[in-house]
Amino acid sequence: MTSLKAVRGTRDLLPPETELWNRVEATARRVFARYNFGEIRTPIFEDTSLFARGVGEETDIVSKEMYTWEDRARAQSEKSQSLTLRPENTAGVVRAYIEHKLGDTGLLQKLYYIGPQFRRERPQKGRYRQFWQIGAEVIGPPSAGSESPLRDAEVLEMLASFLDELGITGWTLVLNSVGSASDRPKYVAALREALAPVKGRMSPDNQRRAETNPLRVLDSKDPADEAIIATLPKIADYLDDESKAHFAAVCAALDACGVKYGINPRLVRGLDYYTRTTFEFTVGGLSPQRAGAPGTPILGAQNALLGGGRYDGLSEMLGGPKAPGIGFAMGLDRLILTLQAQAEGAPEKSAPVLADAFLAPLGAALDAPALSLARHLRRQGLRIELGDGAFRLKKSFEIANKLARNIILLGEDEHASGILTVKNFATGEQTKIPRDQLAQALQPPE
Ligand code: HAM
Repeated sequence: MTSLKAVRGTRDLLPPETELWNRVEATARRVFARYNFGEIRTPIFEDTSLFARGVGEETDIVSKEMYTWEDRARAQSEKSQSLTLRPENTAGVVRAYIEHKLGDTGLLQKLYYIGPQFRRERPQKGRYRQFWQIGAEVIGPPSAGSESPLRDAEVLEMLASFLDELGITGWTLVLNSVGSASDRPKYVAALREALAPVKGRMSPDNQRRAETNPLRVLDSKDPADEAIIATLPKIADYLDDESKAHFAAVCAALDACGVKYGINPRLVRGLDYYTRTTFEFTVGGLSPQRAGAPGTPILGAQNALLGGGRYDGLSEMLGGPKAPGIGFAMGLDRLILTLQAQAEGAPEKSAPVLADAFLAPLGAALDAPALSLARHLRRQGLRIELGDGAFRLKKSFEIANKLARNIILLGEDEHASGILTVKNFATGEQTKIPRDQLAQALQPPE
């Protein structure tokens, strides 16, 4: 029988690497709390039409990359339904905003999420079919200030602070404005006109998009079409005065707080819901060199650490009230790759954390008392590895030496007297410690 493996594009995350994942997540929670965000958890699968309507039928995500299935009705009262594993979380958050009438509070909703997303992309370094995002959304009625450029700048400043606090160096922020819903028709008309004489030379996907959704031609990663795309009109030339003023205000607020950025007039991002501000943070740089081999880019061909933007019409596209918003999502897998590559020396695995003690019952009759003692110590906050009364003493010592700083021996005498024998592996010292002083004695060194 062939052995079972994790499915292509998915992988297992194991200790001690998961400690780094937890550290990144804890840093995000800590930083976001300072900006008064709360956590939202939405389901991992949703009705397919949420993504078709929200993200857009002609995007790569919806047209090629979703995991979609027909969920058959199980009872007469149920209908079969097309369901999809979420490829991103913004549409789900806005659905929840509408469903729970969060706009009725009249306040801005500042929500963050951490969780897996699914896209059937071609797997490569930094690109997986199940990947993790840490994201956040700021959404609310216009009266709550949700359209204000200050919100955009605050989100970008928060991201800059988060990356700095995490210790990621050499990041770059690029911004653009893709204009409002009223700027869009003029620009799309100009794109169509420019594409008409040249589209016949483009890839079949782009020929179709030139008809159905010309903006998506700009996301094309097809190298053969790059030269044509470079000649197409730029959206910046089609912004109305309000959109220009909004973008200028975002830039001015960033200047005022010293967050550096560049402007890329081609940054339209591959999702249909964006209006006005769009942005990406990238990291360049190479992984540390190994014995003579040339360094490779930290994120392979994927240099976007995170992306986001404004989506002033998304709620209405999903049948909700007017609720402008702005948000972002970071690729957690890519943050980890970057931290590992930037860590001193090389991406070596960090040393495993040692337990405070290995508790060895000396004989099966002492298993139950050992569990009771382990419970007592764990409740005092200690990290305890519980052995097994069936193990010979030598075996207990061998395991304990790998996993823990100390070994506690629980034999008949110790059980009867309540005085335990403890050996510290670092000093080699063996001591007798009464049960009620054990927790104190085993505290890890500062
Ligand atoms: P996105 O640009 O599609 O935007 O994804 C955001 C980030 O998720 C990317 O910059 C990347 O770091 C990570 N990512 C995407 N696909 C993969 C993959 N296959 N493997 C590993 N990492 C990946 C969104 O998802 C929007 N919902 C962001 C947003 C929130 N816009 C407004 N609010």
